[in-house]
Amino acid sequence: MRKNGLAIHPLNDSVGAEIDLDLSTPHEDWVYREIRQAIDAHGVVFFRDQNLDSEQYATFARHFGKTIVPTSDIIPAFNGSSEIAEVRKEPEQTRNIGGSWHTDQAFRPAPYWGTMLLAREVPDYGGDTLFIGMAAVYEALSDGLKQTLDGLRAVHSNARVQAKMTDGKPAQPDVTHPVVARHPGDGHRFLYVNPAYTVRFDGWSEQESQGLLDYLFRFAQRPEFACRFRWREGSLAFWDNYQTWHYATNDYQGERRVMHRIVVESDPFF
Ligand code: OGA
Ligand code: MN
Repeated sequence: MRKNGLAIHPLNDSVGAEIDLDLSTPHEDWVYREIRQAIDAHGVVFFRDQNLDSEQYATFARHFGKTIVPTSDIIPAFNGSSEIAEVRKEPEQTRNIGGSWHTDQAFRPAPYWGTMLLAREVPDYGGDTLFIGMAAVYEALSDGLKQTLDGLRAVHSNARVQAKMTDGKPAQPDVTHPVVARHPGDGHRFLYVNPAYTVRFDGWSEQESQGLLDYLFRFAQRPEFACRFRWREGSLAFWDNYQTWHYATNDYQGERRVMHRIVVESDPFF
């Protein structure tokens, strides 16, 4: 029985850690607790060389909450599954899913906590996914700007994404969330705005909001706040949708890329 903790290797100070663990077999509860703690601390964790069938994959995911295929997402279920969706790009498709900085679920009243992707088929090159740690971004802001942002809420909408990615599928009603949120575990703060879904500050016009939002979006994209994950078949990424952004690079035209995706519903942060 291993009691001295998981092997967790941070990628940098801001976001991302690799964990050495075989997920195909059951583990004791402390293992899942430590994975959750690593996600709380690093925003996203990565596992390599996971040879999981769909049942093993879903069994792993269920340790963290309810596994769902969100109905209003643009990502279809895999084989009619109620737990696993499929992010697929065929060689003849030019557009990819998730190809701009975003936070999954920000447009929902209570965003789902986790998303995981398991790489089933990857191109010979390209198709990396980048992540940004929004706790590190918040931490690096000046005290003055932190104070200004602390009391604000922002309006989020999936109208732009729906318009770009679907043939007129209606958008969800607008929601507001705190601009600076606290992690329910250790209370650390993170910035919760993103370029895909955040429209304006609550009580401010879009025009008034634009300058400050653009500043935050540019600031967050400093390389020090990001990590870049190179996929191999069997790689698994598992991230917290509250405190990270991600971006799927679309740099492998003419090749296929297939990811199996599970969304995990856990206690909402706000
Ligand atoms: C997603 C997503 C990124 C990728 O599944 O939410 O943005 O790299 N995918 O496929
Ligand atoms: Mn996404």
